[in-house]
Formats: sequence, C-alpha cells, structure tokens
Amino acid sequence: MRGRHPLIAVAVLLSGCATGTPAPSPGPIGVVPVPSSVRPGVGEHVLSGATTVAAAAQLAEVTARQVAALRRVTGLPLEEADARAATLRVEHDASQPEEGYELEVSADGVRIAASAPAGAFYAFQTLRQLLPPEVESAERAPGVEWRLPVVVIRDAPRFSWRGLHLDTARRFFDVETVKRYVDLMSRFKLNRFHWHLTEDQGWRVEIDAYPRLMEVGAWRAESPTWSRDDDDSVMDGVRHGGYYTKEQMREVVEYAAERFVTVIPEIELPGHATAAIASYPELGCTGEQLEVTTTWGIFESIFCPSEETFAFLETVLDEVMEIFPSPWIHIGGDEVPKKQWEESSLAQQVIEREGLTDEEELQSWFIRRIERHLSANGRRLIGWDEILEGGLAPNATVMSWRGTEGGIAAARQGHDVIMTPVEHAYFDFYQAGPEGEPPGANWSGSILPLDRVYAFEPVPEELTAEQAEHILGAQGNLWSEHVPTREHLDYMVYPRALAMAEVAWSPKEARDWEGFVARLPAVLRHLDELGVSYRRPAEHLATAAAGSD
Ligand code: ACM
Repeated sequence: MRGRHPLIAVAVLLSGCATGTPAPSPGPIGVVPVPSSVRPGVGEHVLSGATTVAAAAQLAEVTARQVAALRRVTGLPLEEADARAATLRVEHDASQPEEGYELEVSADGVRIAASAPAGAFYAFQTLRQLLPPEVESAERAPGVEWRLPVVVIRDAPRFSWRGLHLDTARRFFDVETVKRYVDLMSRFKLNRFHWHLTEDQGWRVEIDAYPRLMEVGAWRAESPTWSRDDDDSVMDGVRHGGYYTKEQMREVVEYAAERFVTVIPEIELPGHATAAIASYPELGCTGEQLEVTTTWGIFESIFCPSEETFAFLETVLDEVMEIFPSPWIHIGGDEVPKKQWEESSLAQQVIEREGLTDEEELQSWFIRRIERHLSANGRRLIGWDEILEGGLAPNATVMSWRGTEGGIAAARQGHDVIMTPVEHAYFDFYQAGPEGEPPGANWSGSILPLDRVYAFEPVPEELTAEQAEHILGAQGNLWSEHVPTREHLDYMVYPRALAMAEVAWSPKEARDWEGFVARLPAVLRHLDELGVSYRRPAEHLATAAAGSD
C-alpha cells in the first residue's frame, strides 16, 4: 500500500517534535473528535514517578484498565493513593451525562469527572491524545517525557450512535484484525461496531444447527484480483474464506464491551443470501445447487418464504442472539431482486394467502415476521432503507444508505434512523484520484474525499425537531470486496473514520474543517505509533504547513 508519504516530515514538524527535545508549544490541542469545550491554559503537567492515582468506586474498574495500559507503556509505577493526595484523580460527578466527562489538567495534576464508566473511558481517550504519541507504543517507551498541556475540557457526544461497519463476508478478516478494528474505533469515541457477517460471497457465523454453513457457505472457490479498476474478470484461483467460532465472537463482544462498543451483528435476508442457499438449496426458491458467489454484485438468489426457511432463520437468529447481547440485530434487507419470488409458486401462494398486493409487500411481510421473532426476544430490528418498501415493520430502525431520503421518510413515520449515505459514508470509495489510489473501487470510480465525510450533517433540515430526535447518529461503512488485506483496510478507513467520529460526536457548532486539519497531524502521529497504514492526506497536511509558517 502507498500509505507512507514523504510529508510525514511535515507532520513531525507541525507537532513540534522534530528534534526529539520537548517542544515549547504543543500547538493546537490535537484531539479528535473535537470536544464540546476546550480551554487551553498556560504550562504543563508531567506524569512522573511521583504521579499517584485515585478513582471513585464506580469508576475504579475502567480506571484500573486505563492506568494499567499507561503503566505498561510509561514504566511509571502510577501507584494508588488516597483521593486527597493523588495527582491523577477520577471523580464521580452525577451531573455529567453518561458518556460525558470533564478533564482538567493543571500544573499540579489531572482531574477527571464522570458519572459513569463510559464517560471516564472517553476522558482517558482524550488524555491519551494529549500525551506524546509514544503512549500508543506496543511496548514500553523509555526516555519519553509524559507531558500534558494545561487545559480544561468539557465533553459529551452529540449522538448516541457513532458507528463503523466492516464487511467480513466478502473478505474474511481474522479475529485479531476485527478486535484491532474495534480497539481503534473506540479510541475516537465510536461506539457501534456493525459486523457484516453474511453475504452472497460468504457465511461467517458458526451456527451449531446448520454445519453446512461452515463447511460450504464459508468458502468461495476464488476471488477477483482487481488488478484493474472495475475489472473482476481476472480471478486468483485461490479458495478463500473462514468463519468466526462462537468463542471468537464472544471474545469480540467482551473485548468491545471493555471499550464501550456495542457489536451489532448483521444477518442478511431475504437477499444477499447465496452462501446460505448454496449450503442448503431448499432455502431458495429454485432448489438449484448454487456456488458461493465469487464476484461482487447483486444476485437473484433469495430466501423462499417457506416455513422451512423461517425455521432456519429463527434458529440462526436464536444462536446469534445468544452470542450478541446487542439491543439491535441487523437483518440487511437491501438490494433484493424479486424475480425468483415472481416465478415461485410457493411465494405466490404466500402472497395470496396473506392478502398481499405484490412482492414488495411480501418482503415487508417477511421482515415483519422476523421482527416479531426478534421482538419476542427483546431485540430491535435494523434494516437498510429498502425495508421501507412495502411498509415498515412496527419498531424497525432504518439505516439510510441510498442518500438520506429513506432516513427522512422513516423519521417522519416515527422510526429511529441511522444515517450512512453513500455520498458521505462509504469508505470503499476512492479517497482521491483514482490515479495513485489502490485499484478496485466498487462504484465506477466514485470518490469520497476526507472533507466530504467531514461535511456530513446527519440531521436533515426537512425534519421537525421532534422527528430529528429519531436520528440516532451516523456511521461509516467499509465494504471489503476490493480490500483483501489489513493494510488496505486501514488505508480505506483512516483518516476518514476520524472525520466521521467528529460528525457523530462533536457538537455541530464546534465542527470546523480548518480546525480538524490543524488537529489532524498530532492524531496521525498516534496512528503511526499504533501501526495504522492510513492514507496520508498529503494535500491537507501541505495546507496546514503553509498556514503555520
Ligand atoms: C448497501 O450498500 N447495499 C447497504
């Protein structure tokens, strides 16, 4: 990947650490997403052998975890002390919102105030960004002065849903890569991991009742090489696939929970289901023995609305709900050609039996039935905006991807909405070029530059204040057909996820592109330490450098 760029030198200069000696001025407070309020002061506080820690009882566990990480990298003892004596204090403050916090660095020490563990966690993420980037080292970083600028920060999120999606179905990423994805997003206060687990091209969830999903559905014969843009005709001839065991998925759920991230599994229905139908042909409408799909696209295979299919899906969802405690379960619902339902006598019988007018209503009926099952288990259904067609299920949450129109329609009907429109939120689009970018964008050369992600406003003007309450937040999506490696994944997601984090977390009035560009270099240095192969936003760094002369 071409994630490294000579302009790294500019980034280093901008953050004032080029010589390795402490910089007199740390530059802008380089925190992303930008907090609600930042009041820089004069001077600094340095974490040292004399630093001691105290935390309120309800915040002790989250503090212990964060302090242990700081101990590991700094080598400082960071011993516990009495609350009055400690120089790093984590206090309970019932007036803070659940995810909010106050972080005060004075010459004498650090004070964090939060009402709940999530807020304290976010305070520590901010604190880490204020520290030198070596705080992100995987190993102990000797010889670093752990300097913090004097500052008072007050902060709380604008939206409750701050999402990042990953398609692990087109391309299988190992569980370590998934955990790393979750860890990185949590550092930028993103809190919903949308895990795309089933597709035409692969089934990734271990299901005890249906072993052929893992034996057949989890594997495809070969993959496109994407040696040229939009050309999937050259195949690599290499079998590709894999699935996550229940133990691995539980591990991800627990790992995410420690980082205040909810994992929302997505099980696609009634379309994007070829891998399942290839495993069990009786679930389809044609009975044909299909292969797991090897190319990207929209395919006609579809779950047939038989009792056998519903028994399958309910069993699958029961096993999924056992693994994932998320209040929401995503059922896909996007891009469903209805041809096979039109030609299926069984589907037509269901339409007649249920008094439905057409196949759109059949899809709606299908999803309502699934929603009843999820509701009976205390879960809420999320679907892509196509679930509006033929009428929404009563409590469905809509993920608006084909622009914001679906989200607007759903909010007007009193349904919750997550905004993730292609034109601002699809991280599989090119970031520039396409010349100079890695080949293989999905969308005929569509480009989503960093500033267009940043410019996204999740609440459409058309909505009344009451309707706007239904906008839970925003999300970035990574479809992975053209993203075969972890390095490529990093490249597509960062720094665009940073822009999305600011869209979803920061107050609308605090958002400012120039400010983001000025804060970015410091944050990118943290990503360097974390080994993230992000795309260097060269033109923005160059602009910032020119502005700082
Ligand atoms: C989608 O991109 N088909 C949700």
